Amino acid sequence: MKIGGKIIHFSSLSSTNDVARELSLRGEEEGTVILADEQTKGRGTKGRAWYSAPSLGLYVSLILRPSRPDLSLLPLAMGLACREAMAETYNLKVHLKWPNDLIIDQKKVGGLLIESSFSGSRPLYAILGFGLNLNHETEDFPEELREKAISLRQACGRKINREDILNQLWPKIDFWYGMFLAGQDERIIQSFEEHHLFPRGEKILVDLNGQEIAGLFDGFSRNGALILLTSQGRHEFTTGEVSLKK
Ligand code: BTN
Repeated sequence: MKIGGKIIHFSSLSSTNDVARELSLRGEEEGTVILADEQTKGRGTKGRAWYSAPSLGLYVSLILRPSRPDLSLLPLAMGLACREAMAETYNLKVHLKWPNDLIIDQKKVGGLLIESSFSGSRPLYAILGFGLNLNHETEDFPEELREKAISLRQACGRKINREDILNQLWPKIDFWYGMFLAGQDERIIQSFEEHHLFPRGEKILVDLNGQEIAGLFDGFSRNGALILLTSQGRHEFTTGEVSLKK
């Protein structure tokens, strides 16, 4: 089925990822989308909550059934799709921050949460969840996020229509998912690096559950891990939170 060919719309639910997972387990086809106006238990990465105010943001989960067993580049490919849709629709500079943040003007405009299940080494499903800040004004964000978050409306100075961005997203996801399935790994990694918030050679910090490791950013490995050159040598991270070292 086409990506976005079937959209199941809820006015309110717990988390689009949770509903998408339940539907996947009941055999729902690849390409089906769960869309919500509001989430009461929106989830972010690392067990965090995802602030999901009614009608201000985009809360979407897409069911995928990848034939490729290794999903390590899927987050990068899907980040590229979301970045491209936003940048082209609104003529904005949008960056990616490894592994799953979408950034405008150094602030977070959205994030991805991909959750998958396997039978042995075969993926049964992968849920691509993404949240984008669409029409928030500063006071719509909780106080602790106001310095760090931005909405598309704030970035481009006009009201954002949810259907417009969704219609741009499906062909972009289709394209980058196709690249992923076709094993176009170099292209994915190169494009991700090209649009990454900071370039190779920058001094960065990788926060690994509270432990900060400093080094020089040296791009991404073939499986999408972040490469850090430290005084101890070369390290690859498959998880962690990165920031510029001040
Ligand atoms: C992040 O921490 O940056 C990832 C945020 C992902 C949020 C989206 S909103 C739609 C989907 N449903 C969820 O519960 N989370 C994701």
